[in-house]
Amino acid sequence: MKFYIKTYGCQMNERDSEAAAAMLLDDGHLQVHSEEEADLILFNTCSVREQAELKAIGKLSILKKQSSGKFFGIMGCMAQSRGEELLKKIPHLNFALGTDKIHELPEIVRQLRKGSKTADLEHDNIQDAAGLDSHLVPVNGFKAYVSIMRGCDRFCTYCIVPYVRGRERSRSPEAVLEEIRALAKAGVKEVMLLGQNVAAYGTKGLKMDPDVSPFADLLEETAKIEGIERIRFTSPHPAFFNKRLIECIANTPKVCKYVHLPLQSGSDRILKAMNRPYTAEEYMNIVRSLKEKCNGNIAFSTDIIVGFPGETEEDFEMTRKIMEEVEYDLAYIFKYSPRKGTKASQMEDDVPKEVKEERNQILLKELEKSSQKENLRAVGKTLELLAEGPSRRNAARWCGRTDQNKLAVFENTTGVKVGDKVMVHIDRATSMTLFGTIVTD
Ligand code: 5AD
Ligand code: SF4
Repeated sequence: MKFYIKTYGCQMNERDSEAAAAMLLDDGHLQVHSEEEADLILFNTCSVREQAELKAIGKLSILKKQSSGKFFGIMGCMAQSRGEELLKKIPHLNFALGTDKIHELPEIVRQLRKGSKTADLEHDNIQDAAGLDSHLVPVNGFKAYVSIMRGCDRFCTYCIVPYVRGRERSRSPEAVLEEIRALAKAGVKEVMLLGQNVAAYGTKGLKMDPDVSPFADLLEETAKIEGIERIRFTSPHPAFFNKRLIECIANTPKVCKYVHLPLQSGSDRILKAMNRPYTAEEYMNIVRSLKEKCNGNIAFSTDIIVGFPGETEEDFEMTRKIMEEVEYDLAYIFKYSPRKGTKASQMEDDVPKEVKEERNQILLKELEKSSQKENLRAVGKTLELLAEGPSRRNAARWCGRTDQNKLAVFENTTGVKVGDKVMVHIDRATSMTLFGTIVTD
């Protein structure tokens, strides 16, 4: 059967889509890259914001009109939370697969032609269940996602994830490291360790201690694996970002000096209402400490919500100030939207739409300023890139990423191949991209 997977949402979903594709390929199916060619169209869905759900449902309805005789399935967060309801509501939807059940996909697809509707939305307690850590294909040849934990126990009041993805479960370090070793053998040079709250990896049952971080141990063990050159991770919760982890990042050269550190709000009052157990000052201490220990050679990105219930101009201004001080490279800025079943959905959504939009725009401007400034700082330096391949607009030009995840474009004058290390002198920069020339010594 020819299948097509459309992915919405976060990197966890991208990783799950890859695992799903690998399992179907293993089972003799063929992956295609357009809906028209496919016999099975699979949506890997996101529930974090209402908009994401509406998009997937809308697309599912449009497709039905254009395609008779095709099979449709949903997986991911919306499948988990609304699978039963959607199966009833959307007659052409054939199956819904929960976030812990991806390994059942091949069997479900085998049963498809029999015509029964299926849903499996149970949560598994065992993280290393079949299919979660095997069958992996690297993205882009030399990069791969590795899921190190699932679920989330933080219960931020706005967030639906703990209800959808279930309790926090860490995989054993042995299983994670074995997977990374296998990836390295297959030519992977860069791994992205994934989880909703990676800084809390392996901490279940442990007392909070600034000198203990099983996640830092995992980073160091990963760094010992031959062939692995870069280690990235996302997302760490600031409340678990301790001294041990800061020192590990600063002192382990293979760990990229680029940290995605979700702020959500710069106001202590709003952070409290969000059930984010840190203050703006504590957040800034992590940033300052990382900057100091890395001699300023580190970049940050973040997630921010504007218009959370009760957010005043003063609260918002505190968020803007933090953005100004950190000088983020990248920020995902979201307008608050209530999600059914969360605590915040019982609060009055009292910030008017226009005000949310205005605050969103102000922060986007702030971001443009800081990302441009960050990029200009790279001009004149010679940076190491891992080559990603020809640029989309011009095949003679190649692009690569720096340790700090900045995209740099260069003329491939020396026959560089995908995944090669290349030293590039940065000649100029925009807020999005660096432009440089290969340096040969
Ligand atoms: N409204 C707006 N943004 C949200 N996020 C999560 N839930 C909501 C919501 N209800 C954002 C947070 C989180 C990111 C993945 O999505 O910033 O870090
Ligand atoms: Fe949601 Fe908070 Fe868990 Fe992140 S840490 S997934 S925002 S509940």
